[in-house]
Amino acid sequence: MSIRITTMSENTASRMGLLGEWGLSILIETSGQRILFDTGRSFSAAYNAIEMGIDLTQISKIVFSHGHLDHTGGLLPILKLIRKPIEVVAHPDIWQSKYSTLSGRLRRYCGVPFSREIAEGLGASFKLTGAPLWLSKNVVTSGEIPMTTKYEEIDSGLYVKEKDKFKLDPLRDDQALFIRSEKGLIIILGCAHRGAINTIRHAQELTGVEDVYAIIGGTHLMAASPLRMDFTIAELQRLNIQRLGVSHCTGMAASALLAQTFGERFFFNNAGTCSNF
Ligand SMILES: [Fe+2]
Ligand SMILES: [Fe+2]
Repeated sequence: MSIRITTMSENTASRMGLLGEWGLSILIETSGQRILFDTGRSFSAAYNAIEMGIDLTQISKIVFSHGHLDHTGGLLPILKLIRKPIEVVAHPDIWQSKYSTLSGRLRRYCGVPFSREIAEGLGASFKLTGAPLWLSKNVVTSGEIPMTTKYEEIDSGLYVKEKDKFKLDPLRDDQALFIRSEKGLIIILGCAHRGAINTIRHAQELTGVEDVYAIIGGTHLMAASPLRMDFTIAELQRLNIQRLGVSHCTGMAASALLAQTFGERFFFNNAGTCSNF
């Protein structure tokens, strides 16, 4: 099975002509199937698709990693571009009223920036489930990710608003995508709010595959404590990861540390980066 992974939108761009925008969108092409994992913050994924000559009308599904606007906000421009009905797989909690204080002291809305009705009017049909969903024989969504490590926790600056009260957001909607390849597991992360290592452990359990070949996407290490960073690196080394393409919420300092540790196995996975497996 040939697998190609192309990043459509990320905080930074890999070359001139592409847009960088805080957020993430990754196109996964396997034999006979094209899935768009997240859609970026606004129009950058649709713009970059045109710039890269990638025909997004060929995608058969969209998967949302969670409800934050930097992963879901690009849906409407993509629906307007592809002009066809498309299934969007996500956890039901993406529709919660999500807020953040991460970029300042004020709580700001950071959830899905459009109504379900508007997206449905443009062709989206939502398949909402908290359970893993096999999209083909070798590709599965994570469903809810159990939090099993002691050192990974969800940011304290993320909230859900319910009846005018703010509660800490458990990010039950946080999902990843797992691909069983001949070389081992390829794990595509959105923001990894529930922890990159928790996600990897869940991937091994769910797919029955122990070997993890590649990790691509947001590892959410940008605010990790030195302890969490140490444990994460030790675990990634123990797993003998062969390709580590970090993006987005990994953060500069953590990316530099991972680059130093993993050498040629490391790459920065930004808009326009294409990996073949
Ligand atoms: Fe997020
Ligand atoms: Fe994010």
